[in-house]
Amino acid sequence: MVNVDILELFHENDFVKICAPMVRYSKLPFRILARKYGCDLCFTPMIMADSFVQSAKARSNEFTTCIDDKPLIVQFAANTVSDFVSAAELVAPYSDGVDLNCGCPQRWAMKDGYGAQLLTQPETIRDMVRQVRNRVSDRYSVSVKIRLLDEDRKTIELARSLEVAGASFLTLHARTVHERHSPIHADSLREVCQSLRVPLVANGDIKTLEGAKVLHANTGCKGMMAARGMLTNPAMFSGYKTTPLSCVQDWVNVSLDLGVIFNCFHHHLVFMLEHVLPKEGKRIFNTLKTKSAVLDFLHENYEISYVPGSSGLSAQSDVIVCDKSSDREENSVGSFFTSAVQKCEVQDEILDSLGGLYD
Ligand SMILES: Cc1cc2nc3c(=O)[nH]c(=O)nc-3n(C[C@H](O)[C@H](O)[C@H](O)COP(=O)(O)O)c2cc1C
Repeated sequence: MVNVDILELFHENDFVKICAPMVRYSKLPFRILARKYGCDLCFTPMIMADSFVQSAKARSNEFTTCIDDKPLIVQFAANTVSDFVSAAELVAPYSDGVDLNCGCPQRWAMKDGYGAQLLTQPETIRDMVRQVRNRVSDRYSVSVKIRLLDEDRKTIELARSLEVAGASFLTLHARTVHERHSPIHADSLREVCQSLRVPLVANGDIKTLEGAKVLHANTGCKGMMAARGMLTNPAMFSGYKTTPLSCVQDWVNVSLDLGVIFNCFHHHLVFMLEHVLPKEGKRIFNTLKTKSAVLDFLHENYEISYVPGSSGLSAQSDVIVCDKSSDREENSVGSFFTSAVQKCEVQDEILDSLGGLYD
């Protein structure tokens, strides 16, 4: 697969419209949908680098792509330089860049030295960027997703040093680790953006194309990344204020053609229909337990049906997995299968943070 040059993408567009990394949600079928509705660039969910390197099972579980799934950035959670570098080398043939998660504030991640905990070890982050930069082609992008530190001066210092280490671009979730639902700090985005030569991607509370344009105008950031906004309306970057029914129809066709587990199929619909279904409809829809019950509901209420093959994609012939073998294969499968990424508590925390979508 030929890499897309991510830096060219930033040069060609006023701002790049980006689907954020989202554990469990920014997977292949959702990325296909996001691209169809105006996203220029997609991130995979965060993948545990140690498991990816040590286990073929983790690789095939955690990463799938297809020929049209580009440009694509694969995000890793890593707490050692060697894990991040090895994971990047494995995934480079199938993607256009790797990203290091330095923003996850969840307890399990911080405790094990992942995510936002890395912000306290800037030398380790720089080393990770430097080493990947030395090992992959110049066209392949290396980026870091960070949060604000407690003073802008410190965030700028960190961001600049990552630029010097060779980061292709940076993403800034404009809240500190301690801030969850408070408004983002647009002024800090502007300050950090102005102090960098590499593109800065803004993240936090972008819910509409209009909102993205305003934040771009106010901060100068060259990328606008949305997470929750994309879940509730995957067509937001096309200018839709709420999810159009065509997008729901496309989700049904793409996800069922590619094959998804029921929870993923249903959760996405719950999110997409949040501002579409009336209250009583939501209550009923949220309790549905099978794909056929969901399809019956969609047919009765919106005349949406699954048309097999209409996405033009098939699970058998189009899905690509990372089948490169690793020289660090071990009997152990790394932290993935034991970590909280796989446990319900994370799911609950995430769903809480979505602001009561399941209420
Ligand atoms: C369901 C969900 C899963 C997320 N998973 C990740 C992840 O895998 N990696 C990451 O860096 N951030 C993750 N985040 C954080 C988002 O990428 C983003 O930084 C945050 O939600 C703020 O953006 P928003 O206001 O557009 O939602 C996740 C957020 C949500 C809601």
